[in-house]
Amino acid sequence: MLFDSHAHIDNVRFDEDRDQVIKRALENGVEGIINAGACMTSSASSIQLAEQYPCVYAAVGVHPHDVKDIKAGDYEQLAEWTKHPKVVAIGEIGLDYYYNLSPRETQQQAFIAQIDVARQTNMPIIIQDRDAHGDILQIIKKEAKGIRGVFHCYSGSMEMMREVVNLGFYVAFGGSVTFKNAAKLPAIAAAVPLERLLLETDCPYLTPEPKRGRRNEPSYVKFVAEYIASIRQLEFAVLAEATTNNVKNLFGLD
Ligand code: NI
Repeated sequence: MLFDSHAHIDNVRFDEDRDQVIKRALENGVEGIINAGACMTSSASSIQLAEQYPCVYAAVGVHPHDVKDIKAGDYEQLAEWTKHPKVVAIGEIGLDYYYNLSPRETQQQAFIAQIDVARQTNMPIIIQDRDAHGDILQIIKKEAKGIRGVFHCYSGSMEMMREVVNLGFYVAFGGSVTFKNAAKLPAIAAAVPLERLLLETDCPYLTPEPKRGRRNEPSYVKFVAEYIASIRQLEFAVLAEATTNNVKNLFGLD
C-alpha cells in the first residue's frame, strides 16, 4: 500500500470530482493521504476533508506565501486545531525565497512561531523550502531541536540531504524527481536511507511523468513510487511498504 504524504485535495481544481479522485486513490493502492494546509482557510478545509474521508488526515499551518496575512490569534487557533484526532502535523511551513510573496523577515518569524506551536503541541512539522536552504537549516538547527518533521518536495543538495537526515528529519519526493530536468534529484532520492524516505504528490501541482501536463492527484503517487523503486533497484512492494510505514511512524498513525 502507498501513502500520499502531501496533497492539497481541498484545492478548487478538485471541486468537480473530489469523490472520484479519492476513490481512484484507494483503487490504486493509496491507503492514506495527508492534506497539507497552506493558510488558515485551507487548514480548516483540511480538517473538514479529514472528517469526511476516513483515508484523509490533516496538517494545519500557514505557507510562507501567506504568512503576511497572519492575524492575532492565528497561532492559538493552529494549536487548538491540533487537538482534533485527525490533525497530524503543523504544515506546510517554511521559507519560499523563489516567489517572496511575503517579506523574508516575516517568513522567518512565522516559520519560527509555527515551529513553536509544533513544540507546544508535540506535532511533527512539514517543511516547505524553496531557494532558502541555508536559512532553513539555520532555523531548524537553532529552533527545532527535538522536533520531528519532513522536508517536503526536497530540492536541496546531496550534502544537505545527509545533514537533514542526521538531524533526524525525513525527506519526501514527488513528481519533480521524475522530470527530465530533475538534475541531481534522482541520485539524492536513491541515497536517502530507506527508513527516512517519504512519497508525495503535492497535487494538484507537480504532476509526475508520464502524466505531466495534467492535473496531479493522489493516485499518481504510484508513478513516483515506481520511479524511485526503479532507481533504487527495489521491488515496488518493498518501497511502498517502507515509505508507508515511515509516514505512520512520523505522523503517529495507527
Ligand atoms: Ni504543498
